[in-house]
Amino acid sequence: MTDQTPAQYTGPRRILSGIQASGALHLGNYLGALKRFTELQETGAPLFVFVADMHAITVWQEPEKLAAQTREIAAAYLASGLDPAKAVIFPQSAVPAHAELAWIFNCVGRLGWLDRMTQFKEKSGKHKERSSVGLYTYPVLQAADILLYKATEVPVGEDQKQHLELTRDIAQKFNNDFGAPGYFPLPEPLIQGPATRVMSLRDGAAKMSKSDPSDLSRINLTDDADAIANKIRKAKTDMEPLPETVEGLEGRAEAKNLVAIYAALAGTTREAVLAEFAG
Ligand code: AMP
Ligand code: TRP
Repeated sequence: MTDQTPAQYTGPRRILSGIQASGALHLGNYLGALKRFTELQETGAPLFVFVADMHAITVWQEPEKLAAQTREIAAAYLASGLDPAKAVIFPQSAVPAHAELAWIFNCVGRLGWLDRMTQFKEKSGKHKERSSVGLYTYPVLQAADILLYKATEVPVGEDQKQHLELTRDIAQKFNNDFGAPGYFPLPEPLIQGPATRVMSLRDGAAKMSKSDPSDLSRINLTDDADAIANKIRKAKTDMEPLPETVEGLEGRAEAKNLVAIYAALAGTTREAVLAEFAG
């Protein structure tokens, strides 16, 4: 790479994000992503929110289910408060330019960069050589999703941080290689709020995930009030009462998670929750 000045993007602020069309959404998706999108539509900056149906097919999907899952995510966007008058909502596959730009970025990104991606390591497991090529190059398509619209801000959960770093690396290298500093912005991840990483209700060391075999580990957005109350009652905790301070939650992953969930849903801080419930 040449030693050029860093990219100076001067275009307008634009916010973009997406969720994969791969099945039911849970509280982690809501607090890490959906709720953030609806807050950001009030900022006045253009907001693009899509359903990542092409990302979904990096692992096997039943063809007849994929269309329904795509609509379900779109319905969740609307149900959580996204307003089509304020946000552009669309399925990724409706815009062929995502795939076209992804190909160009496949030729810009480096194998060594993708080799570091922890999500690929987790999803491919012990059988890396039997994973789809698409699963490996998944983050390159994500970079195309973002840079196609020259998005400057991307609200996501903590787990997407590395993919955003890769997006910035691709943008920077493209700008350098083609002598166009400032062509693509270097997008910022927006990882904010008290619950950017919601953990499993059964294991404070694992994130809440749709792939967890135990349904008690997660709160699905389609669960009714009784099911939710039951899962919270059964959630793993420890013997100690709640501490006075946030520091006192260190080493108590399960208690920490429940406090963060409560704070996020009540629209307050963990400090305020502890002030009310300590002891
Ligand atoms: P996914 O379901 O993996 O496509 O994720 C969709 C969005 O939800 C992304 O922005 C993720 O970062 C976010 N997300 C997924 N799981 C969690 C979690 N346990 N806590 C917080 N955010 C999450
Ligand atoms: N990889 C993201 C996830 O699993 C989904 C996604 C695809 C995305 N393209 C994106 C998120 C572009 C933000 C921006 O959650």
